[in-house]
Amino acid sequence: MAWKWMPPLLLLAWLSASVCSAGDRTDLLNVCMDAKHHKTKPGPEDKLHGQCTPWRKNVCCSASTSQELHKDTSLLYNFNWDHCGKMEPSCKRHFIQDTCLYECSPNLGPWIQEVNQSWRKERILNVPLCKEDCESWWEDCRTSSTCKSNWHKGWNWTSGINECPVKNACHRFDFYFPTPAALCNEIWSHSFKVSNYSRGSGRCIQMWFDPAQGNPNEEVARFYAEAMMNGAELHGAWSLLLGLALLLLLS
Ligand SMILES: *[C@@H]1O[C@H](CO)[C@@H](O)[C@H](O)[C@H]1NC(C)=O
Ligand SMILES: *[C@@H]1O[C@H](CO)[C@@H](O)[C@H](O)[C@H]1NC(C)=O
Ligand SMILES: *[C@@H]1O[C@H](CO)[C@@H](O)[C@H](O)[C@H]1NC(C)=O
Repeated sequence: MAWKWMPPLLLLAWLSASVCSAGDRTDLLNVCMDAKHHKTKPGPEDKLHGQCTPWRKNVCCSASTSQELHKDTSLLYNFNWDHCGKMEPSCKRHFIQDTCLYECSPNLGPWIQEVNQSWRKERILNVPLCKEDCESWWEDCRTSSTCKSNWHKGWNWTSGINECPVKNACHRFDFYFPTPAALCNEIWSHSFKVSNYSRGSGRCIQMWFDPAQGNPNEEVARFYAEAMMNGAELHGAWSLLLGLALLLLLS
């Protein structure tokens, strides 16, 4: 074989390798994010607590995390739900459920992103939350009060617990969150992006589910992982085509 074939052949080998690695979707399914309290790998937890029990067959949270997150100002984050007076219990249950999903779900892989934060290396971004789960969260919280629309940033932490900065007055939720989408998308810096799909569609993540029918979010993660990988494969195929064209030019 002539020596002049070496560079284009190497190029081709490199391109094929990159296409094949793009087809590997296992790292998006059944995974735990690298964050403050998550286990390294999902697994069963028989003693999962309260509202987190639907996940118990396969979870990223420990039993003690699931127990702690049900408490007011839990030690997990020292975060006080009652920062503007008592949060209604009907509202608080949504925040507990949201925390169960965040800490326990092994089905958020397609939306995990690396971050440079002191307290975690990965976060979730734009998880498609089923519209009914967002709407009922908003409905049940309308009459409770808060002082901010982004609960990740801007608190006064001098006491060790989040307090409202003096410039932020307490108002009803619907003042800071005029719509369900404003609540679900803004509160955790776009961790969620409310979906137009409904519960049971297999196309949106459910915060609430009946474990008797299994965990509906497994199918949802599989669908989005495949959609993302097909995009990557298409990109890979174009690279390969470009590589072949280069090969012909160089030879
Ligand atoms: C992460 O933050 C550290 C400290 O602020 C900085 O030195 C580093 O360059 C950052 N890395 C990235 C990838 O942004
Ligand atoms: C933060 O809270 C402390 C009391 O815990 C208060 O003295 C201080 O003025 C507050 N600062 C701001 C910027 O809200
Ligand atoms: C969302 O779904 C509703 C009803 O299924 C439809 O009328 C509406 O156009 C959809 N909106 C978007 C942005 O897709």
